[in-house]
Amino acid sequence: MSDDLFDFSPKVRQFTVVGNPIEHSKSPQIHQLFAQQFDLRIDYGTTLGEVGGFNQAVQHFEASGGAGLNVTVPFKLDAFHLADQLTPRAEFAGAVNTLWFDGGKIHGDNTDGIGLLNDITNNIGFDLAGKRILLLGAGGAVRGILQPLLEAGPSELVIANRTEGKAIDLAQLFEPHGSVKASTFKALEDQQFDVVINGTAASLQGELPPLPQDCFKPEALAYDLMYAAQPTLFMKWASNAGATHCHDGLGMLVEQAAEAFFIWNQHRPSTAPVISALRSY
Ligand SMILES: NC(=O)c1ccc[n+]([C@@H]2O[C@H](COP(=O)([O-])OP(=O)(O)OC[C@H]3O[C@@H](n4cnc5c(N)ncnc54)[C@H](OP(=O)(O)O)[C@@H]3O)[C@@H](O)[C@H]2O)c1
Repeated sequence: MSDDLFDFSPKVRQFTVVGNPIEHSKSPQIHQLFAQQFDLRIDYGTTLGEVGGFNQAVQHFEASGGAGLNVTVPFKLDAFHLADQLTPRAEFAGAVNTLWFDGGKIHGDNTDGIGLLNDITNNIGFDLAGKRILLLGAGGAVRGILQPLLEAGPSELVIANRTEGKAIDLAQLFEPHGSVKASTFKALEDQQFDVVINGTAASLQGELPPLPQDCFKPEALAYDLMYAAQPTLFMKWASNAGATHCHDGLGMLVEQAAEAFFIWNQHRPSTAPVISALRSY
């Protein structure tokens, strides 16, 4: 008789993160640290997606008993199109970073925006209400964070992007949700902001967006969506340019993961110990 007949332990739920590249993803580590907080046993792996093969990878994972997936570059748009049911915030974002299977359907959400908001308001303790925000970039990440940022009630949100047309398109799309306008980098001269968020991929290439040196108001926050073991190039520049608070996107990464963990497991993890643990590695 098989030993399995006497195995009454709860089934270990399986999760994965799909991306390309994927080997440096911190998501497995983050989700295991969350699971330990509730004595939950989960299996969270990584899946290297092939361009053009995203849907197949998800179907294969579901067929093998998978419960949910995180989705990272370059598949957030594929995940958006694959999901049968989208949350309102995923609809606004036009991109999906969290998938799960329920009732024969694939559900999709975008937790990047709430992740950023939770990091800025709860972890950093910075109130965005009434503040003038400059958002740099107009790619997938910026799309995902625009609606939650506008919901936080800034006095104005300005989007500046290297390709101006994309900033204009985004500003028009999100106009019904708050005071948002597009700008070129050049037109930022002589303008000051309480918050500057770098949502460009410039840091990944060791470059800086072309910002005027005097763009920070007193007590300003500079936030780089990118994260690294050392302060990023943008954080170093912002600190020299007078920003009081300079942060990278590690907190956002952990907070977006916490939201996905909650969706999948109905437990809300504490994020502070996980952020500290990742910083100490
Ligand atoms: N912390 C987190 O949890 C988290 C989550 C998501 C993303 N991120 C980070 O956010 C950043 C953006 O990701 P994404 O998915 O939005 O990328 P994306 O869709 O490829 O968009 C890249 C954006 O960066 C701009 N850009 C690229 N190189 C530039 C340069 N040298 N100078 C100025 N602008 C430049 C692009 O401008 P054009 O339109 O002109 O090409 C575009 O607006 C990445 O660093 C990523 O690691 C972090």
